[in-house]
Amino acid sequence: MTSQNKIFLEALKRENNQARVPIWLLRQAGRYLPEYMEVRKNYSDFFEMIKKPEVCNELTLQPLRRFPLDAAITFTDILTIPDAMNLSVEFIAGKGPVFENSILKDRSLRLSSKQAIQKLDYVFEATKMIKSNINVPLIGFTGSPWTLLVYMFYGQSPSDKSLIKSFIQSDSNIAHSHLKELTVIIQEYIAEQVKAGAECIQIFDSWGGMLEEEYSEFSLSYINQIAEQLPNDIPLILYTRGKILADFLEDTKIKCFNLDCADVVDNYIDKDLTIQGNFDPKDFHLSDAELIEKAKGIKAKFFNRANYVFNLGSGITPDIKPEKVDLFLAELSGFSS
Ligand code: CP3
Repeated sequence: MTSQNKIFLEALKRENNQARVPIWLLRQAGRYLPEYMEVRKNYSDFFEMIKKPEVCNELTLQPLRRFPLDAAITFTDILTIPDAMNLSVEFIAGKGPVFENSILKDRSLRLSSKQAIQKLDYVFEATKMIKSNINVPLIGFTGSPWTLLVYMFYGQSPSDKSLIKSFIQSDSNIAHSHLKELTVIIQEYIAEQVKAGAECIQIFDSWGGMLEEEYSEFSLSYINQIAEQLPNDIPLILYTRGKILADFLEDTKIKCFNLDCADVVDNYIDKDLTIQGNFDPKDFHLSDAELIEKAKGIKAKFFNRANYVFNLGSGITPDIKPEKVDLFLAELSGFSS
């Protein structure tokens, strides 16, 4: 079934001809919503919760019930793939994800691709269920090979970046072989999400910013392989944190970018690209009057752009009040100025 509200997909193809900015939010579901916490309290383990397709369905729909959003994103996580490769992941409050094993602890750690895709069936089941319940496009997603390798290397969110930098220099063959293995699984993973109903895919290269001149070799080249394998009618959006993407446009055919908070939309918007992101979620702490002014400014600047999507430069954090998001989006989504 194709979506009724197509403004987001049209913008991704640089064909939005409505005088309105399409909207979705990075991490639009999650702990800032009381209705999420209501569901979350029933599970001690995050993975136990996301392995239930009916729960993923409910959590995906929660922000759509509240806000004027033009896209849904499957409620799951980028760490589903390491979990399916037998690197058991636990979420520890205040620390984030922690893996039982890591490349840092054991250089000869082997990834297990065998049957990984079958173990991810719960994501595809959730995708199908969500798709049958929404009238906006559904975004499927994955971590990039590099970002997943970073988690597998450190066994948690990275601390000292020199550790992985010396690993990719001294053991570059091993690093490339892990990245290749991850690329193959990611290609299958997103193909299955598309089969199940995802209409576009976002790749989270959340740790791409750890790389400098090695970015193309260790991250972007694998993302390019993933992009090349996707059917032409499925747009791919790249989110890279901590990297000015303008420096790498020559190295990729990707056309849709989710900019982080530090990048500058004006440097891209006149090119043959679609730009989303950049809004700092900390701005949701501004006063109501300031937020309305911000929304008016964005609306005035981008309402007639064929290639702009409103989004954030990083995920919403638990300290944000949903009422502030509501106020801001009500202004931004309206036609009047
Ligand atoms: O609506 C949505 O966007 C929610 C779906 C979603 C989650 N994670 C749910 C989640 C998405 C798109 C992600 C992506 C994700 N996960 C990224 C890329 C985006 C980014 O911010 O760079 C990354 C790096 C992860 C890895 C991850 N998952 C971390 C570091 C953590 C712990 C820190 C945190 O933000 O809580 C998670 C757990 C997680 N994933 C939660 C949610 C709602 C919170 C878990 C809980 O409720 O206890």
